[in-house]
Amino acid sequence: MKKNHNLIYLSIILFLSMTGCENNSKSKSVSTDSTSVLKVTVPDAGGFEETINGKAVVLYTLKNKNGAEAAITNYGGRLVSLLVPDRNQKLVDVVLGYDSLKSYRKKGEPYFGAIIGRYGNRIAKGRFVLEGKPYQLQVNDGTNTLHGGFDGFFGQVWTAKQSDKQTLELSYFSKDKEAGYPGNLTVKVTYKLTDDNALRISYSAVTDKTTIINLTNHAYFNLNGAGNETITDHLLTIDADTYTPVDKTLIPTGKIEKVSGTPFDFTKPTLIGERINAKNEQLEYGKGYDHNFVLRAGTGLRKAATVVSPKTGIAMEVLTEEPGIQFYSGNFLTGKDQDGKGKVTYGHRSAFCLETQHFPDAPNQPSFPATVLQPENEYKTVTVYQFSVVK
Ligand code: GLA
Repeated sequence: MKKNHNLIYLSIILFLSMTGCENNSKSKSVSTDSTSVLKVTVPDAGGFEETINGKAVVLYTLKNKNGAEAAITNYGGRLVSLLVPDRNQKLVDVVLGYDSLKSYRKKGEPYFGAIIGRYGNRIAKGRFVLEGKPYQLQVNDGTNTLHGGFDGFFGQVWTAKQSDKQTLELSYFSKDKEAGYPGNLTVKVTYKLTDDNALRISYSAVTDKTTIINLTNHAYFNLNGAGNETITDHLLTIDADTYTPVDKTLIPTGKIEKVSGTPFDFTKPTLIGERINAKNEQLEYGKGYDHNFVLRAGTGLRKAATVVSPKTGIAMEVLTEEPGIQFYSGNFLTGKDQDGKGKVTYGHRSAFCLETQHFPDAPNQPSFPATVLQPENEYKTVTVYQFSVVK
């Protein structure tokens, strides 16, 4: 992050802590004297060794030369922990997760750190028509399909190969009609922990029949450290002037609306908690933020969002080739889940997700960028989570 950005952030942080403009009663002020950052407890690989449907599950560790570390399991291709340095060079685990495979497989939050596919986010009523043929997917979220359905990629065992200390290559073969989708799909996802403290995720896929595809990663971040109480004290910027409003079931209405003058305007660094409880129909539907932001047009890998924790100084920049990003403020985390890493509880809004993506329900929305993959083409997309610190 550039120096002048650091100064801007610092002034904003100081201004906000002086004015106390956070309006979420649950969250703490942005001062650094509140609860100290939780101790890092990295899950033991032993807790992940199991065979599911004849396939071995393992926990892999990637390390870079600065000591940053990522633990990934091939069960759902999940990012289990991600240790990055704070402003005092202390390592902080910035993603929520569980200590063992057993906890990932029980009924809790199903998507922690997972690769999401074949279609990220919602498809209305689980239905779509492709080349004149209707398809019915598994309906797993009220009346809709969410994150691929019950048999989505988050619950599959991937084939893994750690090609070097910093790279893990995952692949998965999704059979024709699996979870209702047409076509045999071969998917590859590579996680690379670079020496400049970025986690680079490269996705690719090929199919033997026309299908739909929208891959993402569902990491739940807390830049104060996983297990800390809230993310409403984080500063968020999203490079989006418009977003896609939703109906009560969180399916886009098809409209693309301006963020300006609404609680969805994150074009400048703004506390996540500043307007989260504002009276606004869209926030009521999402129980907070759970919306697709339309990223400014551009080509190739470009900045999509930046999040800063004033407490730890950790800054995360999201870069992507995708046209949209789902900002989800952890509204469905209940605090009932006692299985968090190191036996911590993950409370309401104690994490945020920034899921890079094509737009939800695009197969039913002709005006949204298309998500169709033809056998003669290859699906390819890259997303980077780049970490740094502000002083
Ligand atoms: C996405 C969805 C949310 C929710 C979370 C997981 O962000 O948009 O509605 O389902 O995943 O709980």
